[in-house]
Amino acid sequence: MIVRRNIAGLLRLSDLAAANRAHGINQLTQVDEHNGSARWTMSNRMFEAADHAKLYHKFRPKWSPEIVNKAVSFVIEKNSKSTSLHHAVDLGCGTGQTTEILAPLFQRVTGIDISATQIAQAAANSKYSNVQYTVGRAENMPFPDGSIDLVTCATAAHWFDFPKFHKEVNRVLKPLGCLAVYCYGMSYLHYEDCTDELNRIVWQFYKGSLQGCWNKGQQFIDNDYRDLPMPYEDTERDYSMSIKVDYTLPEFIGYLSTWSGYQEYCRRHPEDQGALLQSLQQRLYDSAKTTKPAEELIFRASFPVFLLMSRKPEQ
Ligand SMILES: C[S@@+](CC[C@H](N)C(=O)[O-])C[C@H]1O[C@@H](n2cnc3c(N)ncnc32)[C@H](O)[C@@H]1O
Repeated sequence: MIVRRNIAGLLRLSDLAAANRAHGINQLTQVDEHNGSARWTMSNRMFEAADHAKLYHKFRPKWSPEIVNKAVSFVIEKNSKSTSLHHAVDLGCGTGQTTEILAPLFQRVTGIDISATQIAQAAANSKYSNVQYTVGRAENMPFPDGSIDLVTCATAAHWFDFPKFHKEVNRVLKPLGCLAVYCYGMSYLHYEDCTDELNRIVWQFYKGSLQGCWNKGQQFIDNDYRDLPMPYEDTERDYSMSIKVDYTLPEFIGYLSTWSGYQEYCRRHPEDQGALLQSLQQRLYDSAKTTKPAEELIFRASFPVFLLMSRKPEQ
């Protein structure tokens, strides 16, 4: 007989409350630097709360050096000069997931993010003296013309203003410098013979419960970045990699709490106080048909990776 445990208490309520509070970024309007007017900026200001930055750092999948190595190989493929690995910039760096992998490969690495809390968390975790973290925008970088060898954007480019971003990338890149844009897609869970049901439940959460809470950039992820514009003709697309993460059930719920769509849901439903995630956790637990405690229930999540690389012409 299968004993259905009630696991509602297993995901720490403090974590959920933190995730819920993350909507309280409350910076949904900001002053536009260019014209001084207040404007709606929900599009890319979903990563501001300090608690959210911590949850983000704890639960998001980590990039493997493999992806960064592919981007670096792309840089040196047509430019073997010793200066070609001088300065890399990681835009939308978050808490430094990719920035830190770039550090041993370049003389200088700069991580830039629009969110001061993500930058503070990144700087606090940083292990390298050649890495600098700066609050700023992808569309307006603090570097001279023609000074950068590689620009990376991990799980971030779909938030950017493409025309301004491409113009700025073209300004700062050296001739033969490269832009590498990459992202992981929707997780696919594996657990014994319950895989289909688990994924159906997560999909329902993504497209049903969070309907209307996603920024329009999300459509680029849904489409594996196939429609994401790149600035140069010399562009390669790589779909050969994936990231695999073993999550306990509460950790997987922690990962879902970092979704920008969930942050927006919390902003719209302050009364929720974690109820949506708790009921999701219970449904996933019931579907796993197990007697194990939830914190011993391991789901393997695989995330498909899409990598787009574009090279600036020599002249
Ligand atoms: C999903 S997180 C990705 C973080 C990290 N790169 C990773 O791979 O996990 C997206 C980040 O992009 C930042 N962001 C969004 N729009 C931006 C912009 N226009 N310029 C710079 N950063 C931006 C957000 O603040 C957030 O930290």
